[in-house]
Amino acid sequence: MKIIVLNGSPKGDNSVTMQFVAFVKKKFPQHEFETFNIAQRIRQIESSGETFNEILEAIKLSDGVLWAFPLYVCLVHSHYKRFIELVFERDALDAFRGKYAAILTTSVHFYDHTAHNYMHGICDDLGMKFCGSYSAGMHDLFEEAERKKLVLFAQSIFDAIGRAAPFVRQFPPLTTQSVRYTPEASLPAVDAAGKKVVIVTDAREQDVNLGRMTERFKAAVGGQAEVVNLHDIGIKGGCLGCIQCGYDNTCVYSGKDALEIGLVDELGGLREAIIHAKRATQLPKLEVRLLPEPKSAIEGIFAKPDKDETDIIHAGTLPSVSMRVRQLLASGGVLEALPDSARAGVIRLAERIEAFKGTPILLLGPEVNLHW
Ligand SMILES: Cc1cc2nc3c(=O)[nH]c(=O)nc-3n(C[C@H](O)[C@H](O)[C@H](O)COP(=O)(O)O)c2cc1C
Repeated sequence: MKIIVLNGSPKGDNSVTMQFVAFVKKKFPQHEFETFNIAQRIRQIESSGETFNEILEAIKLSDGVLWAFPLYVCLVHSHYKRFIELVFERDALDAFRGKYAAILTTSVHFYDHTAHNYMHGICDDLGMKFCGSYSAGMHDLFEEAERKKLVLFAQSIFDAIGRAAPFVRQFPPLTTQSVRYTPEASLPAVDAAGKKVVIVTDAREQDVNLGRMTERFKAAVGGQAEVVNLHDIGIKGGCLGCIQCGYDNTCVYSGKDALEIGLVDELGGLREAIIHAKRATQLPKLEVRLLPEPKSAIEGIFAKPDKDETDIIHAGTLPSVSMRVRQLLASGGVLEALPDSARAGVIRLAERIEAFKGTPILLLGPEVNLHW
């Protein structure tokens, strides 16, 4: 049997959900699985018709589709939802129609039933033959009893597909209504009892039902509510599941994500950096030195040096730049205002640059860490 796995985690292969899929794969080596990292690659899927079609073609040739996704904010991840929207927008329902479908989620069981119902409804709308869903707790793979249940679930799905089990549509199609909401004439305001009220909206225009409801609600709490429109707060993209926001409530978009959203042209490590540096300098002979010096090959090239800072200056010459920095500090220059750690960092950097001024390519590891 050929099963297409549509991965709804923004973490792609490294997701918890894909560990559950990997487990199922291992238990059923007789079946073939092909995974598409939908949530992780949504920008490419949306911008490249080729990628989108590749997924559809694979689904057409499959025996069943496994919607494997984590719960993100009581539902599927926004990128996964976007994929579903694209299927409808691009009228690509044919690829899904008549295919068996199952759901596997990982979560902490907070509103997982809502996400399952939503996805089941989508399967119904796509004309798929829904044959079961499984909601795993994100740590369930550690429990033997849970692993057994997962195997039983997977077996039941393969059985259903194998015997062409009948299925029944559960959710009736939604019909769109064109009701215009007209707020009632002023009602007495509700006392918010000193509480701060925040209304979060994504209404693009004011003169739509949602806009009118927002205004009405605001008036109902005495006009004191703060209205936050999601379009005004510069969201760079969907949640990446990195939980960096856990530290200071700031969303970090970097690395791979920066590539996906077009902030950088290419990703690479040290090797790529050397290649680019060589191209840029067009030097025939390459001499590369790493700073700070690696402690050992095992500890990695960016490990902190275990030598004294002064020992890693190879050139042996008096670093004139750092002397100037020191003089500047001694003379009460602007650097004096810096905290100790920052001053030490600046001096260290100046020493390194000076020591390697004759070196064609200079690579400085991200060792300088300034705490203000
Ligand atoms: C931003 C965010 C929102 C989440 N929202 C929910 C939720 O509403 N309900 C829930 O049960 N679990 C929620 N979780 C937990 C994840 O579903 C769970 O950790 C999952 O196993 C992550 O899978 P993944 O590694 O495949 O992305 C959330 C996790 C994150 C990072």
